[in-house]
Amino acid sequence: DCSFSFPLIVNECFFSGEIFPSDTDVPGDIPTWTTKLILKGRNISTLPQGAFTVNGTDMGIVSLRLPHNRIRVIEPYAFLGLPRLSLIDLSHNQLESISARAFHGLPELRSLFLNVSVLPCATAQLSHALSAQSLHNLQRLELAGNGLTSVPLERLDKYSLSYLVLVNNSIENIERETITSLYEQRRMHVYLALNPFRCTCDLKEFYYWLKNSSQCLDAGRLICSEPEDRRGTPVDKLRAEDMDCVTENLETVSYVFLCIVLALIGVVFLMVLYLNRKGIKRWLNNIREACRDQMEVYHYRYEQDTDPRLANVAV
Ligand SMILES: *[C@@H]1O[C@H](CO)[C@@H](O)[C@H](O)[C@H]1NC(C)=O
Ligand SMILES: *[C@@H]1O[C@H](CO)[C@@H](O)[C@H](O)[C@H]1NC(C)=O
Ligand SMILES: *[C@@H]1O[C@H](CO)[C@@H](O)[C@H](O)[C@H]1NC(C)=O
Ligand SMILES: *[C@@H]1O[C@H](CO)[C@@H](O)[C@H](O)[C@H]1NC(C)=O
Ligand SMILES: *[C@@H]1O[C@H](CO)[C@@H](O)[C@H](O)[C@H]1NC(C)=O
Repeated sequence: DCSFSFPLIVNECFFSGEIFPSDTDVPGDIPTWTTKLILKGRNISTLPQGAFTVNGTDMGIVSLRLPHNRIRVIEPYAFLGLPRLSLIDLSHNQLESISARAFHGLPELRSLFLNVSVLPCATAQLSHALSAQSLHNLQRLELAGNGLTSVPLERLDKYSLSYLVLVNNSIENIERETITSLYEQRRMHVYLALNPFRCTCDLKEFYYWLKNSSQCLDAGRLICSEPEDRRGTPVDKLRAEDMDCVTENLETVSYVFLCIVLALIGVVFLMVLYLNRKGIKRWLNNIREACRDQMEVYHYRYEQDTDPRLANVAV
């Protein structure tokens, strides 16, 4: 499982669970000279405190790859005793509990991969675990395919991130505060393809950030998925007018205005009726009388025109 080459630069251990799929622990026989450890396809379930130390002694591991191990829980200080660790790959696990101190004690950590690994119930915990306090030297953070709806980092200025990968999540928009701090962190680059952007005028800040800064490295691949009439449109192909809330709201505003005007006209009409009620009464009486006269004339003519015999019967 382990190999090393001289001089002792690449000391690689590869433990594959395809041989022992039921192994539920980190192997206990990892040599202390290992610098690159790959554990794959096991059923590890929980990473307890100091999971990779052997008898409590520090290990020289630099790169730790743990994909596809069905890891569900990361306990506090799970990576304790790995002072040289600079890369952790926890992709393709099923994390449902991540301690806020999961990544504590890792001063050298530069890259953290958590692709397709964080279950929805753990996204709130994720943002605590990713606090700048424990990860201030982190340069690359990959969080693809986790159904995230927002950037799970607060205070971006506290990080020294160069690359933040958020592709294939559920981000519809990025809040104004995050955009503001992105403008301030010029060296930070973001990947955002395969997110369902909601291209209403609320996207304005983000849209201008996309156009103005070159920080989004896959800007040309961002696609609108809402509203219906903009589905499939690339975000950077939207026009500035599309981002204008005034035009967008104009239609609604004009409908409301029309209704108000109609209501006012109605009220005025009713008032006129009310104020002229006497005149109207008189007018109605006049009409009624005119009608009656007319009817009498008509009745008279009818009697004259009909069959005299029938007229006699009627009499
Ligand atoms: C993995 O481990 C859990 C307990 O930790 C157990 O319930 C489950 O059956 C195991 N799965 C496999 C495929 O061995
Ligand atoms: C760990 O310590 C136990 C005794 O506490 C000892 O038997 C064992 O050999 C030690 N293992 C290693 C790898 O040093
Ligand atoms: C996910 O993480 C791996 C590291 O295991 C990285 O190489 C890969 O580019 C990432 N995938 C995506 C889609 O970003
Ligand atoms: C996106 O992420 C989901 C998991 O959330 C994964 O199943 C799917 O393969 C990913 N799609 C791409 C194109 O990477
Ligand atoms: C940059 O953003 C501002 C609004 O914040 C906007 O007025 C300006 O047109 C933008 N510049 C470009 C090149 O898009």
